[in-house]
Amino acid sequence: MQLLDGKKTSNDIKNEIAAEVQSIKAAGGKVPHLAAVLVGNNGASLTYVGSKVKSCQEIGFDSTLVALPETITEEELLAKIKELNEDDNLDGYIVQLPLPKHIDEQKILLAIDPDKDVDGFHPTNFGRMALEMESFIPATPFGIMELLERYKVETSGKHTVVIGRSHIVGRPMSILMSRKGNPGDSTVTLTHSRTKDLAEFTKNADIIITALGVPEFLKADMVKEGVTVIDVGITRVDDASNPKGYVIKGDVDFDGVSKKASFITPVPGGVGPMTIAMLLKNTLLARKMRSA
Ligand code: GUN
Repeated sequence: MQLLDGKKTSNDIKNEIAAEVQSIKAAGGKVPHLAAVLVGNNGASLTYVGSKVKSCQEIGFDSTLVALPETITEEELLAKIKELNEDDNLDGYIVQLPLPKHIDEQKILLAIDPDKDVDGFHPTNFGRMALEMESFIPATPFGIMELLERYKVETSGKHTVVIGRSHIVGRPMSILMSRKGNPGDSTVTLTHSRTKDLAEFTKNADIIITALGVPEFLKADMVKEGVTVIDVGITRVDDASNPKGYVIKGDVDFDGVSKKASFITPVPGGVGPMTIAMLLKNTLLARKMRSA
């Protein structure tokens, strides 16, 4: 069994990007600039946005945190988006989700300039991805593709079962794995909460990518020998014996499933750390597109 080490791989990628930033600087060029829009005080969002900004600083990007109050109106937020779209000094930005309930998330995502949409959530980028054109690819699926590539996991002609149809992970993942190329060229089954007899699919899968958010639901008896398992689940589970009062659990019963797997991602330290690295990669691409 080979562990797909997202922590190490994301560090490798960050070092590669930092080296590129150094050569941009040496040539007198402009370094990439990422902005993150954070509305309100959602605890998890604060943590995520904080690490995105910190990572920018570590690798030499410019970064801006746009912190807005929970009470901001949709109209005011749209005005801010327009400002970011027009800011020539900015290469890309993200609007951290979820947004407060009084704001229409889709309306906000549609307002983002696709050329600055480093999250890849705009329909233009999503469509371009599906059509195998160059585009920003959502960071989590992009990170999974990068892990499969760097660890040389064979995906061509394999049966990939994706669990979960979210717009951020499952749906784009199913598209990417069915695209031409390597990784890709898979035969894909996209399963979800209405799928009947999920185990019948997982037992026949060569590759399982699970983004369900149900701790340890994928058990050893649901997979075949030699399977590759990518665990996107990150659920906080109360644990009084832990100083934090909780532990992070993936969707996979790691102890059981890892005994049958040929490749598997741990949680934490698998897919999670890859996400920020790929956001940085998209931001570097945005900079290159703007200077081309
Ligand atoms: N909320 C959870 N994941 C993400 C992400 O990848 N991007 C943004 N903008 N918000 C998120």
